[in-house]
Amino acid sequence: MAPGFRGGRGGGRGGDRGGFGGRGGGRGGGGGFGGRGGGRGGARGGRGAPRGRGAGRGGRGGGGGAAGGNKAIVERHRHPGVFISRGKQDDLATRSFAPGVSVYGEKKVEVSETTTNEDGSTTTNKLEYRLWNPFRSKIAASILAGIDTLYIQPGSKVLYLGAASGTTVSHVSDIVGPTGRVYAVEFSRRSGRDLITMCQKRHNVNPIVEDARKPASYRLFVDGMVDVIFCDVAQPDPARIIAENAGCFLKVGGKVLLSIKANCIDSTAPPAQVYAQVVEEMRNLKFKPKEQISLEAYERGHAMVVFEYIRS
Ligand SMILES: C[S@@+](CC[C@H](N)C(=O)[O-])C[C@H]1O[C@@H](n2cnc3c(N)ncnc32)[C@H](O)[C@@H]1O
Repeated sequence: MAPGFRGGRGGGRGGDRGGFGGRGGGRGGGGGFGGRGGGRGGARGGRGAPRGRGAGRGGRGGGGGAAGGNKAIVERHRHPGVFISRGKQDDLATRSFAPGVSVYGEKKVEVSETTTNEDGSTTTNKLEYRLWNPFRSKIAASILAGIDTLYIQPGSKVLYLGAASGTTVSHVSDIVGPTGRVYAVEFSRRSGRDLITMCQKRHNVNPIVEDARKPASYRLFVDGMVDVIFCDVAQPDPARIIAENAGCFLKVGGKVLLSIKANCIDSTAPPAQVYAQVVEEMRNLKFKPKEQISLEAYERGHAMVVFEYIRS
């Protein structure tokens, strides 16, 4: 194993779940990025009460406390393509697809990896990791809240609806790597400009500045079928948007990760009722719910629900 790379541990579980599976429990891990109004989070996860170092404070802007330089230790998370940076605090991280470039001011950690060649000589490479802030990414929040399976992994083809300026898209690009592809859809021209700039250094992302409610308008920009749709559009009708996109782009058996913002759908009903209503709509549209996880600790009134596309 490479120095500075004690792979293998990590993995968040627990988190407050509802719906299907219902394992309950808290979340764990060391501090890292703090939260609005009370800390939690950290990279390792775990059932039950928070463990580990560092309490959360801060919020969106804050970078984590991982140290850079040769002393940095980065370990593999149980989700392929995701890492944990160990330092004063533990942070989620992804290995940068575009070393040297920060996308949203996130901190970077460099680790030397030495491999032994066939002739016995060694080669040392520097790998760069970018810390991933769960208060700015519902996917990172889902990992720390203990999502069972992310489905977005090295080599995945992902249709990403609601890309904004590319904060989370950039981490998805890191995860899927050179053999994967991200089709990132955003309808705001202003955010779309930043997204396009970000993609100039990330050749595995296709920016698509279009309306996710009209998948026919970008049909020609998506090459073949995708493995996963991630939807974070904060619109009142996410089920319909997903169904239309899935019909065009998602392979049967493919997965949907839907971030639900309850008050975008119904600001008068309790969030749990809104999540249940969306899940029911998705069922009726031939999506089988697999897992639901509350993101309350990171984003008030949000949940992530994972579905499988069964189509018929
Ligand atoms: C919550 S933000 C997404 C944040 C982003 N996923 C991230 O983690 O960095 C929602 C985004 O969806 C975009 N959006 C809303 N409706 C859309 C639509 N119909 N088509 C495409 N994008 C849409 C908004 O402009 C906004 O940038």
